[in-house]
Amino acid sequence: MKAYNWLVWYVVLVKKELRKVKKYRFQLLHAWIVEHFDPCRVADIGGGKGLLALFLNQSGFQSIVIDPFDQSLPVKYKNLNKQKFKISKEESVPRINAIFEKEMAKDFNLLIGLHAHGSNMKIIEATAEHKKDFILLPCCVIDEPITPHADINWFDSLEQYANLLGLKTKRFELNFRGQNKGFYSKRET
Ligand SMILES: C[S@@+](CC[C@H](N)C(=O)[O-])C[C@H]1O[C@@H](n2cnc3c(N)ncnc32)[C@H](O)[C@@H]1O
Repeated sequence: MKAYNWLVWYVVLVKKELRKVKKYRFQLLHAWIVEHFDPCRVADIGGGKGLLALFLNQSGFQSIVIDPFDQSLPVKYKNLNKQKFKISKEESVPRINAIFEKEMAKDFNLLIGLHAHGSNMKIIEATAEHKKDFILLPCCVIDEPITPHADINWFDSLEQYANLLGLKTKRFELNFRGQNKGFYSKRET
């Protein structure tokens, strides 16, 4: 029994060590998207500083950030192998500094909400209305048109909402600590 306990602790510790810190979420999601989607027009909704959009554009996607708060790209980042990179002042990603509205979706193929605020339900509705794809990694119920309820799981209810609107969804998980679970809807081609 003792040996078994040590084994459990070893696995827990090793697993913990393998899981990246949250700041690598952009690198990990970028790698996942490149594996699962062909280059296309992307709206990174609630995209913050724009690091995910930058990575996607470096991989042949045409991405823009839609976010009401104007934010600059970070000046540096590390890749998944911990190599350091600087982002020059000349580099940029296109931005729309505005609240996401559903009509905006018509100009894109893929809508992304990575820990986005106030737009998860709109992303799902826009995907259904405009026949697009989406990827969501929800965090919290901020500025959404529903009231949080203690016994209702936000993640599950969002996915059910997508299914209710006729969208087939699949779940996935990325290797970082924190809100690393997502679901996506990809139209058959
Ligand atoms: C927790 S941050 C996540 C930023 C980025 N995706 C990341 O993972 O670091 C939430 C972002 O949602 C943006 N936001 C808030 N309300 C929004 C809205 N109605 N439409 C689009 N973005 C919104 C905020 O400005 C902020 O950049």
